[in-house]
Amino acid sequence: MNVVVTGAGGFLGSRLANALLSKNSKLPVARLVLVDLQEPPSYEDPRVTTLAINITDSSAADRIIQSDVHVLFHLAAVLSGQAEVDLDLGLRVNFDATRALVDTARRKAPKLRFVYTSTVGVFGGNLPEVINDLTAVTPENSYGTEKAMCELLLNDYSRHGYVDARVVRLPTVSVRAGTANAAVTSFASGIVREPLNGEVCICPVDTKQQLLVTSPYTVVQNIIHAATLPMDVLRPWRVVNLPGICISVGEMIEALREVAGSEAVSLVKFKRDEMIERMVATFPSKWDNTRALRLGFDVDKSFVDIIRHYIRDDLKRKV
Ligand SMILES: NC(=O)c1ccc[n+]([C@@H]2O[C@H](COP(=O)([O-])OP(=O)(O)OC[C@H]3O[C@@H](n4cnc5c(N)ncnc54)[C@H](O)[C@@H]3O)[C@@H](O)[C@H]2O)c1
Repeated sequence: MNVVVTGAGGFLGSRLANALLSKNSKLPVARLVLVDLQEPPSYEDPRVTTLAINITDSSAADRIIQSDVHVLFHLAAVLSGQAEVDLDLGLRVNFDATRALVDTARRKAPKLRFVYTSTVGVFGGNLPEVINDLTAVTPENSYGTEKAMCELLLNDYSRHGYVDARVVRLPTVSVRAGTANAAVTSFASGIVREPLNGEVCICPVDTKQQLLVTSPYTVVQNIIHAATLPMDVLRPWRVVNLPGICISVGEMIEALREVAGSEAVSLVKFKRDEMIERMVATFPSKWDNTRALRLGFDVDKSFVDIIRHYIRDDLKRKV
């Protein structure tokens, strides 16, 4: 298969590229084009081409989508914190550029498997205790609104037969390697990563705050799995809430204590941040994984397990 990844220099995009190129990849890859604002790191693999493209440029979609592309993993995005403070940038990157990609796919590569990474941030407000794939989207932030608009657009273009979209809503990914990022849920990685590096982490929300989390490894495997699903299996609603673990910040900290001891836990300090607290409080913390598990998506065993994997695979990584 000829595959393109946008956002390939980012945290998940770079891991997705590695996983696609590995011998065990569930998706056979003949050619892989990696796209990001800055040229993604190169590979010594003859299947790989790297491109520096700003997806908001008028020629970008045409450069990214060639008629022989089979699968597009569209991960490039401005994350929640940045999209909230810069509405115009968020709309351009998260919505306008996605629309340009879908329109180009419709014209040049109809039936393209368009794998799109959406978010728990499409939900907000007065949610039922447990939500499922059919719960109405009610975002209370610009990032979630932009992602929700793309979900609807992709669903409608698929209904027309213009593309073959597979939209996966990602829980919060923890533990992220590297440094804090522009997502309002960045602390969900920081409260583990920084103490394991002997550094203080300021947690902006209360220990009772519940989150839905997934490990980087599992979410990347699930994103690839989305591309392998048979064409019509997601019809009529091509959006899947990827399985996550429902856990409170306090429980995450206790998992850290179990793995790394109380000294590590003492490095987590609390200082409320009202914007973050308000936005995170609107995200759902429980969703029904039944449909996703039936479709073959995977779920992590426990948060203790996630921390142990992070220590084994990622502790020293910078990105
Ligand atoms: N990490 C999470 O917890 C999480 C949760 C839900 C959804 N997601 C989604 O998963 C995807 C990947 O997230 P991530 O954590 O790897 O984010 P990231 O910020 O590490 O990567 C995003 C990449 O997009 C690129 N990008 C941004 N604007 C661009 C532009 N104009 N042109 C080209 N490239 C551009 C950035 O340079 C970056 O490398 C995103 O779509 C995000 O919305 C992530």
